[in-house]
Amino acid sequence: MEFQNLLFEVRDGVGIITLNRPKALNALNSALLDEMGALLDDIAKNEAIHVVVITGGGEKAFAAGADIAEMQNFTAIEGRTFSVSGMKNISKLETIPQPTIAAVNGFALGGGCEVVMACDIRIASTKAKFGQPEVNLGVTPGFGGTQRLPRLVGPAIAKELLFTGDVIGAERAYQIGLVNQVVEPEELLNKALEMAQKIASKGQLAVRMSKQGVNEGMNMDLSRALQYESELFGLSFSTEDQKEGMAAFLEKRQAEFKGR
Ligand code: HXC
Repeated sequence: MEFQNLLFEVRDGVGIITLNRPKALNALNSALLDEMGALLDDIAKNEAIHVVVITGGGEKAFAAGADIAEMQNFTAIEGRTFSVSGMKNISKLETIPQPTIAAVNGFALGGGCEVVMACDIRIASTKAKFGQPEVNLGVTPGFGGTQRLPRLVGPAIAKELLFTGDVIGAERAYQIGLVNQVVEPEELLNKALEMAQKIASKGQLAVRMSKQGVNEGMNMDLSRALQYESELFGLSFSTEDQKEGMAAFLEKRQAEFKGR
């Protein structure tokens, strides 16, 4: 696939997406979001890609938000359409079967923070900055910020960030549970790839079912969710990976998973 606003490469089973409009701090316009959605559809079908890492091109930003120049003259209907369509593309980071890791190198504001929150795991450089500054522009978040932020950090802290528009650093983001890890800027991509490789070395069907278990279960009450987990557990016994994983343990050797 040819992209105008993204870079994409696959390294040892890990797909690396780079948001690539560095002059505009990787501001998310419709073209970029549509390219990302199409790419994620492709990745979802590609069994050679086990994990996805997404990061921002250039030194300064993961993404400084949705493209304000594009949104400036929207009518209410155009605003809604932009939200629905962008949200659909961004949500693919959550719904593709492979785990997704955001490697946050700089500003992750507004829509940028919303892309980060749609990923399964977040690793931040010490230079990363997070926030939902939409209130400064007289708008609400529109790519999931009022919904994913409270689910990640709880409603009280989410409301503080949403109402004040404050931008927070990586350390506070770590304290409130918005990011999983904070690392030095020069180590960021390597740490994200290291985690991706670790995940890629496991039984891929089990990894995918674990992702599905969390995502689906979070929308169920506990008793149904626990029942759903039992179904997934049972299903994992229909895989070759289960036979290999348990045999390898008992034979005291490294498992060789095939993702079948
Ligand atoms: C369009 C943007 C942009 C954005 C930065 N740029 N953010 N263009 N949309 N969100 C452009 C600037 O216009 C500028 O272009 C260039 O990138 C560099 O930005 P500067 O502001 O000069 O850099 P700096 O002074 O270092 O400040 C960095 C910054 C600031 C603090 C991140 O750029 C900023 O506040 N950006 C906006 C952040 C924001 O409000 N995000 C939320 C957007 S609303 P030129 O051509 O002048 O060099 C949103 C809604 C999502 O995301 C939901 C939609 C449905």
